[in-house]
Amino acid sequence: MTGSGAGNANRKLMPVEEQITLDLEKLRAQQRYRSIPQTGHRNGKQIMVDGRLLLNLSSNDYLGLGSDRELSASWMEQLSVDGAHDGRYAMNSSSSRLLTGNHPVCNELESAIAGAYGFEAALVFNSGYHANTGILPALSTRHDLILCDRLNHASIIDGLRIAEAEYRRFRHADYDHLEELLEAAAGRYRQLFIVTESVFSMDGDLADLKRLVAIKHRYGAMLIVDEAHGAGVFGEQGLGLCQQEGVLSQIDLVIGTFGKALASTGAWAVMKGLFREYLVNTMRTLIFTTALPPIVHAWSLMTFRKQLGMERERSHLLGLASSLRNSLRDAGFEVPGMSHIVPLLLGPDSKAVALAGVLREAGFLALPVRPPTVPENSARLRFSLRADLNGEDMENLLTIIRSVSI
Ligand SMILES: Cc1ncc(COP(=O)(O)O)c(C=O)c1O
Repeated sequence: MTGSGAGNANRKLMPVEEQITLDLEKLRAQQRYRSIPQTGHRNGKQIMVDGRLLLNLSSNDYLGLGSDRELSASWMEQLSVDGAHDGRYAMNSSSSRLLTGNHPVCNELESAIAGAYGFEAALVFNSGYHANTGILPALSTRHDLILCDRLNHASIIDGLRIAEAEYRRFRHADYDHLEELLEAAAGRYRQLFIVTESVFSMDGDLADLKRLVAIKHRYGAMLIVDEAHGAGVFGEQGLGLCQQEGVLSQIDLVIGTFGKALASTGAWAVMKGLFREYLVNTMRTLIFTTALPPIVHAWSLMTFRKQLGMERERSHLLGLASSLRNSLRDAGFEVPGMSHIVPLLLGPDSKAVALAGVLREAGFLALPVRPPTVPENSARLRFSLRADLNGEDMENLLTIIRSVSI
């Protein structure tokens, strides 16, 4: 018998089915039970859910590129003209990028991204989740310390768990706390890493990137910024909040995803050529997975190029979000943030679920976000806006919200 077996000698085994049935009951009782909604076809800003067409206030297609008819018409034309001549539109890659899965269109995509950002290199990944669970474990060692904003996305947290480095989480956007942790770390580690989102996905607020850059320089740390929700929305040419704040060239790795404003699938990071070379040699979520098919990279290249010129849509989107936020605040609600993600804080899970139900009846899809995705007693409705919404859509939404007693 092994040591751990002996230690558990008196513990009665519980069948897995029994355990998980209890866990599911608990989730139901807490109003935290999740199921996959039956979403059907999308028609611009509308989406079919359980047989009804609703105004979609829960998508990450921030620029509306996913339902841009002109863009999809030129995509179709490109497909029919270029056809299958060089495998550019193949729907399989059949291998890791390090074996036979790397089509030239992926290199073309990386060059376009690196060029637009003004970085030496870019590296494309299968998803933001692959990027975040792969980059930190590849770059850090057990001699290092990673400092992570407490509200960073689950994929970053999972990356910390996989990495051999020690990690600490600083209070959300509390850079005094970050500095305290850095002071305490002095002389104890070989490398220091700071990781943050630029636009926080659940609160819609923004990291103070200028302060983070100053801290990075003061302590000799490497700074990694996840622009999943900033790319396409902030900055000139949609190059994100780092660009808007004028600190792009001082960030060591800027990560972006294609799955949100870019209306595709996958992710990228821009960096020095040396980092790229190292990641290609060490990053398990790049090496040990089948590459995305070339057709996805070809579409990502098209949407990336298209979004570079969408300044009008960006400014409309941010203006719409700002007026919705102000109206909700005027109506007495707590609404944090200053981006296109507008969270309406409600507290108890039951309130968020109830208001989501009322809105759904009235034709709006706004999903409730509950713990553990957000801290206890901070359940919310999260409106993630898109550039094809208009002022009338927002007024209709506000009329319903104002009419219910919450
Ligand atoms: C901040 C952040 N990073 C990464 C991801 C993961 O990106 P992907 O959906 O491409 O896996 C998300 C997805 O919601 C996110 O919000």
